[in-house]
Amino acid sequence: MAIPTSRTNEKAEIRLYNEKCTNCGLCVSVCKDFSLVMENNKVIISDNPLFGCIGCGHCMAVCPTGAIEIHGRTLSPDQLFDLPAREKAANYDQLSSLFERRRSIREFEEKEVEADLVEKILTAAKTAPMGLPPSDVNVLVLDSKLKTRAFAKDFCDYLNGMKWFVSNWFLAIMRPFWGKANDEMFRGFIKPVFNVYAAKMNDGVNLVNYDAPLAMYFYGSPYTDPADPIIAATYAMIAAESLGLGTCMLGTVHPLIQNGKKARKFRDDHGIKYTSREGLFVAFGYPAVKYKKGITRTFASVKIME
Ligand SMILES: Cc1cc2nc3c(=O)[nH]c(=O)nc-3n(C[C@H](O)[C@H](O)[C@H](O)COP(=O)(O)O)c2cc1C
Ligand code: SF4
Ligand code: SF4
Repeated sequence: MAIPTSRTNEKAEIRLYNEKCTNCGLCVSVCKDFSLVMENNKVIISDNPLFGCIGCGHCMAVCPTGAIEIHGRTLSPDQLFDLPAREKAANYDQLSSLFERRRSIREFEEKEVEADLVEKILTAAKTAPMGLPPSDVNVLVLDSKLKTRAFAKDFCDYLNGMKWFVSNWFLAIMRPFWGKANDEMFRGFIKPVFNVYAAKMNDGVNLVNYDAPLAMYFYGSPYTDPADPIIAATYAMIAAESLGLGTCMLGTVHPLIQNGKKARKFRDDHGIKYTSREGLFVAFGYPAVKYKKGITRTFASVKIME
């Protein structure tokens, strides 16, 4: 059976053009589905692949003569393009400087993010790797301060109707089921968030998405690898930084709109198509604050195996 996603549940079709094929074997070596095999020094389509062509496109992308085409799972030769020259790609110093200059930005200038920048961010984010092609990441774009504020306001109203979720009696009942770490997280973080988001919104202060002139919500479907929306959001963030925008990831909304009838209504009201295990908002805008110093960060641990 082909691997299903919300977009397709069929394997892709492999077309081999023998007259153009030199039997160099490159396509065979990159195909980890074992859809292609060498037999008597000739490439053939296997009768015994792992899943059936997943439509990664690697064989088409590596073939020097255009002798192989993939059709299906949202892919076709139309999706191939010439690679930019290596000299055009960011080098380590450039990328590292971009990363070092980044700070989470929560104060934005009163300036819209231009439509062509929104497009560039999405174009870059679409290059992100995904657990299995085709990408099963969905993106909700809020492209004005009016829209981010309206979303934040609705979210606070939604939280107000869900206060029982962080009540002492409910947390006490759930403690044996979801364990110590979750209990501490709920009491120490989620509960205060519920209270402070709504209280601040009443005072006109938007802590949900900081009135950013642009926000994007990256989320999956029940089929999506949970890492995929997070990776796409990270690509979007890096792309936006390269365009001179400030960014801030916003992790609070996603987990709180997954379960229950009210969550479903909230998602429906905001054009969010699916529940998914992971999802992440990113806020974007022209920064109103300039940081003077970078901050050295560390991982919790790095162990090099002997
Ligand atoms: C997954 C994730 C979720 C986050 N959620 C929020 C959030 O809801 N609100 C917020 O103000 N910042 C949020 N942040 C930003 C972090 O607080 C920020 O990255 C951290 O404080 C370090 O600061 P820096 O990004 O400037 O290095 C989030 C960051 C990540 C990676
Ligand atoms: S990479 Fe292209 S030319 Fe080489 S074996 Fe595969 S189809 Fe033939
Ligand atoms: S698209 Fe990917 S899975 Fe399909 S034949 Fe080519 S390399 Fe193999």
